[in-house]
Amino acid sequence: MATHKLLLLPGDGIGPEVMGEVKRLIDWLNASGIAKFETDTGLVGGAAFDAHKVSISEGDMAKAKDADAVIFGAVGGPKWDAVPYEVRPEAGLLRLRKDLALFANLRPAVCYPALADASSLKREAIEGLDIVIVRELTGGVYFGEPKTITDLGNGQKRAIDTQVYDTYEIERIGRVAFELAKKRKNKVTSMEKRNVMKSGVLWNEVMTQVHKREYPDVTLEHQLADSGGMMLVKWPKQFDVIVTDNLFGDMLSDIAAMLTGSLGMLPSASLGEVDVKSKKRKALYEPVHGSAPDIAGQGLANPIAMISSFGMALRYSFDMGALADKLDQAIAAVLASGLRTADIKSEGTKAASTTQMGEAILKELQKLHA
Ligand code: NAD
Ligand code: IPM
Ligand code: MN
Repeated sequence: MATHKLLLLPGDGIGPEVMGEVKRLIDWLNASGIAKFETDTGLVGGAAFDAHKVSISEGDMAKAKDADAVIFGAVGGPKWDAVPYEVRPEAGLLRLRKDLALFANLRPAVCYPALADASSLKREAIEGLDIVIVRELTGGVYFGEPKTITDLGNGQKRAIDTQVYDTYEIERIGRVAFELAKKRKNKVTSMEKRNVMKSGVLWNEVMTQVHKREYPDVTLEHQLADSGGMMLVKWPKQFDVIVTDNLFGDMLSDIAAMLTGSLGMLPSASLGEVDVKSKKRKALYEPVHGSAPDIAGQGLANPIAMISSFGMALRYSFDMGALADKLDQAIAAVLASGLRTADIKSEGTKAASTTQMGEAILKELQKLHA
């Protein structure tokens, strides 16, 4: 059996709490001989700043590059509000994405049947929902230069962020979206703002070309990102795969998270290009949510987004799709049993802490595997 090298980066706030529940799964998979994971743990975000005054150390960056997959918790929090911009906690995550060239961020929003009433939308709008947002992750306004604040000397300052996209960046994220759609409901909706932004004009043009040239059998629709957000809340089931840029993808995926009941439910996979020789790809798996400072340290965090992110690692990095399916089934069964962390709690359901939820999911997985 192959040994898979994982680097765990728990980070800050609820990051270590939800990572603990993934660790529980990994320990069991190793102990039961189902898989062989070799894990190392590093510091990122505020935790790395406290230890080394950086957002991630060179040593941990090297480990991330060497690992078969990185499993990431969350970074940030008010404690580091005043640290220099270059070493703020979030910079560690951005560097990981950029230096590992993780350009494709898959953010699936699935409504578990037991949670059809947990969303702020009506049951009929989200029951059976299964969509994926494909977010471009290494370009756009997150990384474009110049990115500056200049003192104009008259009591005024000027802040500049720059949105930049080259053809190849749009082509490769487009291909990821079309390939994914082929395995699903065969539909891609591309979102940009071509009515205001030059990058939107190019995005639209390149998506159209890739579609025509390489994926004519997939349905492609174009939607302006603002009304796309509206449609996501109005009738999300009209979508299958949404492909969009870095910033719109960040915002639209937090919106999509609420369709599933909670931000604590949404996992993600950040993937690089597949290497032609080794057939491997760099990958980092991270929940969509942040460090949730408001609930950190109280055992209130929902670990499902983190656990499902590990499920995506099983699927995309380790060819263990069957095990990932079982993990999804285990989550569905636990939710069907009425167990709920605080974020998805409703009348008549049983309250669970982060740990109790993690334990229950493992127990179900063990049953499914027996
Ligand atoms: P957040 O995602 O941390 O929290 C938003 C709300 O959702 C909070 O009320 C929180 O309690 C709730 N929430 C989030 N995850 C939850 C979970 N697993 N279970 C239950 N409830 C959950 O967003 P924020 O408050 O805007 O940001 C806080 C910090 O996190 C900031 O420093 C931000 O930069 C950082 N952040 C980090 C990541 C990341 O590391 N990937 C992602 C988003 C935000
Ligand atoms: C996310 C987060 C990050 C982003 C931050 C923490 C850098 O919000 O992964 O959604 O904006 O990409
Ligand atoms: Mn975000």
